[in-house]
Amino acid sequence: MSKRVRAHVNPLSITEEFHFEGFGNDHPVFVDVGAYRGEFMDDLSLQFPDHNFILFEIRRPIAEDLRKRFEGRDNCVIFHGDAGLNFQNILEPCIQQGAKIEQIFVNFPDPWFKDRHKKRRFISSKFLEKTAKWLPSETEFVFQTDQQFLFEETVEVLQESSYSTIEYFDTSPYGLQTDWESAKVSEGNTIYRMKFKQGEKLNS
Ligand SMILES: C[S@@+](CC[C@H](N)C(=O)[O-])C[C@H]1O[C@@H](n2cnc3c(N)ncnc32)[C@H](O)[C@@H]1O
Repeated sequence: MSKRVRAHVNPLSITEEFHFEGFGNDHPVFVDVGAYRGEFMDDLSLQFPDHNFILFEIRRPIAEDLRKRFEGRDNCVIFHGDAGLNFQNILEPCIQQGAKIEQIFVNFPDPWFKDRHKKRRFISSKFLEKTAKWLPSETEFVFQTDQQFLFEETVEVLQESSYSTIEYFDTSPYGLQTDWESAKVSEGNTIYRMKFKQGEKLNS
């Protein structure tokens, strides 16, 4: 029987919180918010076999498939739930074990088009303000989307926050396209990409 997968899940309706003991080592960590089929992190783990990988996915059937895909891999963990709500619970233990959270990928996040749904977006002023209190300033976010309006509105949010060191870039990070990216590129869409972290605006 095929599994029913909802097209979108309102993250504000998912209130389950998780805890994580950390990986028990200080290896650098890559994080994927909305990992979907997991091919991006799977390929990245081949390039960085000594890193640890944290994957968040809000849709249960997809998270279950991710668990199967990464089964038996001690350096990869999957969390089913809202990445925003669980971000600190899951990442902070790794930092306490001496690990650097190297990059957090927000690849093709749900855009939530309507004004009244904007608070469901992953990158929001509230999220950035909360995160800046505990996430080391060296950690970089990588944000990619084919939605120009979402990209521009996110830049505005960042510029009003402590995460205003923004660097725009043109090609897929590490030469790896996500599933969503491949689909959008084959439709002829432009992809908008940036990295951002805490700090001042860059002069460019
Ligand atoms: C448009 S898809 C992009 C998937 C993948 N990142 C890619 O680039 O191929 C967005 C994914 O993020 C997941 N998602 C959306 N909001 C989330 C949240 N708050 N926490 C965790 N996952 C989320 C969705 O279920 C979906 O799999």
